Amino acid sequence: MTTIAIIGAGPGLGAAVARQFGRAGFDVALISRSHERVNGLAAHLAGEGITARGFAADVRDTKALATALDAATATLGPVEVLQYSPVPHRDFMRPVLETTPADLAGPIEFSVYGPVAAVQQVLPGMRDLGRGTILFVNGGTAVVPHPDRAGTSIAFAAESAYGHLLHDTLSGEGIHVAQLVIPGAITPGHRRKDPAVLADTLWGMHQDRHGFRHFADDLEAV
Ligand SMILES: NC(=O)c1ccc[n+]([C@@H]2O[C@H](COP(=O)([O-])OP(=O)(O)OC[C@H]3O[C@@H](n4cnc5c(N)ncnc54)[C@H](OP(=O)(O)O)[C@@H]3O)[C@@H](O)[C@H]2O)c1
Repeated sequence: MTTIAIIGAGPGLGAAVARQFGRAGFDVALISRSHERVNGLAAHLAGEGITARGFAADVRDTKALATALDAATATLGPVEVLQYSPVPHRDFMRPVLETTPADLAGPIEFSVYGPVAAVQQVLPGMRDLGRGTILFVNGGTAVVPHPDRAGTSIAFAAESAYGHLLHDTLSGEGIHVAQLVIPGAITPGHRRKDPAVLADTLWGMHQDRHGFRHFADDLEAV
């Protein structure tokens, strides 16, 4: 049995992806800052017959993130699928002319150092397995920068470049790296942006294994 690690696992997309992959037989490692919240979600999923465990880490603390991923592997088994999808903090979204170097530290830690630390931690296990999937989830500012959301726009662009480089570098090893861009808001009941529909899209990306960037909706929805 292998594991999906969902970094930034909350009640919206995180829970929907946990259900989608859990129903397909994956064990699920749920990672967020709050042990209480991820344990609560794990208990909920257990009631649906899914093996899930919660692990606490702030993605801006790369050591804690690495420790959480190691604990997930030790508890559940090797991580075959990594999803990086913590919801960005509001204070990352400041107008460009009000954004100082200090304001960019958080977004860069969140969207660059965190993903790099997570990938470095799980990659040896994926190589041992001979397969793996790494999924990045971002908002539309990853593609179309927004002048009022400078931090996320800049950091998502860097995260996208990192993911693209990984895609090209790892494709020959059976490790598929892809990004889902969700323009606009995740919206329950929406034809394309309901969390369960997005989870199905991510499952399809894991199964189909082609192309780096995928769009959950038309870009005008940014
Ligand atoms: N929500 C939207 O409208 C929207 C729109 C476009 C794209 N997206 C993308 O969708 C993904 C999020 O989906 P969602 O909004 O439905 O979220 P979700 O899965 O319901 O929850 C995400 C979780 O991220 C955790 N998180 C936030 N900061 C963190 C940190 N520093 N370290 C570790 N965990 C952290 C939070 O848990 P704790 O508070 O317990 O840490 C939160 O519950 C992200 O990739 C985001 O870019 C969302």
